[in-house]
Amino acid sequence: MCGIIGINGIHEATPRLVEGLRRLEYRGYDSAGVATLVGNGIERRRAEGKLLNLDARLRDAPLSGTVGIGHTRWATHGGPTETNAHPHATPRVAVVHNGIIENYRELKEELIGHGCVFESVTDSEVIPQLITHYMDAEGLSPVDASAKAFKRFTGAFSLVVIFAGEHELMIGARHGTPLAVGYGDGEMYLASDAFALAPLTNRICYLEDGDWVVVSRSDAVVHDATDAVVHRPVKTTAVSGALIGKDGYRHYMLKEIYEQPQVIGDTLNAYINPVNNYIALPDFPFDVSKATRLTIVACGTAYYAGFVAKYWFETLARIPVEVDIASEFRYREAPLPEGGVAIFISQSGETLDTLEALRYCKRQGQKILSIVNSPESTIARESDAVLYTMAGPEIGVASTKAFTTQLTTLACLAVTTGRARGAIPPERMQAIAHALREVPALAASVLAHDERLKELAQELADSRDVLYLGRGAMYPLALEGALKLKEISYIHAEGYAAGELKHGPIALIDDNVPVVVLVPSDHLFEKVVSNVQEVCARSGKVLLLADKNGIGKLGDSVRWSVELPTCDPLVAPLLYAIPVQLLAYHTAVLKGTDVDQPRNLAKSVTVE
Ligand code: AGP
Repeated sequence: MCGIIGINGIHEATPRLVEGLRRLEYRGYDSAGVATLVGNGIERRRAEGKLLNLDARLRDAPLSGTVGIGHTRWATHGGPTETNAHPHATPRVAVVHNGIIENYRELKEELIGHGCVFESVTDSEVIPQLITHYMDAEGLSPVDASAKAFKRFTGAFSLVVIFAGEHELMIGARHGTPLAVGYGDGEMYLASDAFALAPLTNRICYLEDGDWVVVSRSDAVVHDATDAVVHRPVKTTAVSGALIGKDGYRHYMLKEIYEQPQVIGDTLNAYINPVNNYIALPDFPFDVSKATRLTIVACGTAYYAGFVAKYWFETLARIPVEVDIASEFRYREAPLPEGGVAIFISQSGETLDTLEALRYCKRQGQKILSIVNSPESTIARESDAVLYTMAGPEIGVASTKAFTTQLTTLACLAVTTGRARGAIPPERMQAIAHALREVPALAASVLAHDERLKELAQELADSRDVLYLGRGAMYPLALEGALKLKEISYIHAEGYAAGELKHGPIALIDDNVPVVVLVPSDHLFEKVVSNVQEVCARSGKVLLLADKNGIGKLGDSVRWSVELPTCDPLVAPLLYAIPVQLLAYHTAVLKGTDVDQPRNLAKSVTVE
């Protein structure tokens, strides 16, 4: 997901643009650049790779000017080269863009037919070229040329435009990916999110889909898709101005793994009364307990959280649940029942596939509940009800504390739904509330195994393939463990339902394939014990994650083991997430990969 920022200011823009880009690094990127208005012209500095390369370019050739734009690019069309890096510009117009202009090919052909010369292979370059064409060929003003051009684009885009010689003007547009307007003192800003603007202002206005905005140095005039002038509220954001540091941890990911006891506790405190342990969620404009069916949709790790919740809703609330990945669900044309509730899970609240699945469900008359970590995000704003996870900003691309706080929130939702349906006896309710309250302390005790897991990572680091096995709610955990290893260490891994082993994957078992097995003492314990024994009988190298009971039963049969706390089976997914996170983290460190910003990945995928 690209990051964009624009400043229409009275102070030197470049250092503040770069600072804003630094705050957007977490989104994942592979090139960066800035452009400012200098005299009657536009000047650019761009560089492949990380911001330190752009810093070097700017040291060699400083960039002055108080009006400018900046961009971190996650390549979609065209490789991560300097030529393809943003800002893209003609002599009159410079643009930074997040998203995809889906009809760029036809526009590019049209413009080449008018004699326009393109320098890059990107879709984004059609934006400044088309605006310039309307200004040159039709004599339109920058504002009119921009408004006309925006209507020609199809696809998802948020963008910021500046114009040579126009030192009081900046234009932005939002279509599918977010854009925020920042209000400063005698200055105005545009950016992908409030986090990028936090050092500059906390007065933020979020544009709606289809909006475009004319920003002077002192104000912003917002137009909707029909060009009518509209009002969008300016809010004071709570996002901290302090750049989030690693607080002494080697990587953001490790810091965020260690923050989990705290943020799980924060999330529980939002939903469980600490005095009487009563679990109470905010009031929704609909009753989840009356839902005829739940449809849970998300991507990646968020999807695995929803997959775990399927087991909880079915067992605790006795509600039928369908769970699917958003990129499949949104095109399935799935018939949805009257009275259904659709739940969308997203850390960023901006994942486009999840957002489009939400819009499908809304069109199908479902009540929409989202579970997000980012206030003011698009998914939150398009939902009928929102439950916020209290994970705080998650900078590492690999989702860790967002995942466990999603599970925490979903557990509270499943339990209160079951209670409302009379499906949970009072004594079980008490036991569950107690078990949930215990999670932060138990999570802290799991973190105490970090050194052991670091040692065990040595056993995985040279593997070509790793298998993860689990049953019941541990099956999605196996999928999540495999994803964590894949996405940050680049080792192929696969999560499997342990019961499926004998239907094929057992053929993979040999001395070269470590098998991580998650075995809490739940109702499927004996079944998984048998599966572990099947693997061991074929000289499989099992890494056992189990409690005292499991270690007692299997400890002598397996190659390695880590003893986790004995806990209520309901909360086992929250605790077993931590060792698989740490295993992946330490393996990636051994592999020397970019743990916080793994290759090819973005923190939130706002393209399809
Ligand atoms: C998980 O570690 C990845 N970062 C990725 O799978 C992520 O969970 C997925 O892209 C969904 O993102 P979201 O929660 O912001 O919607």
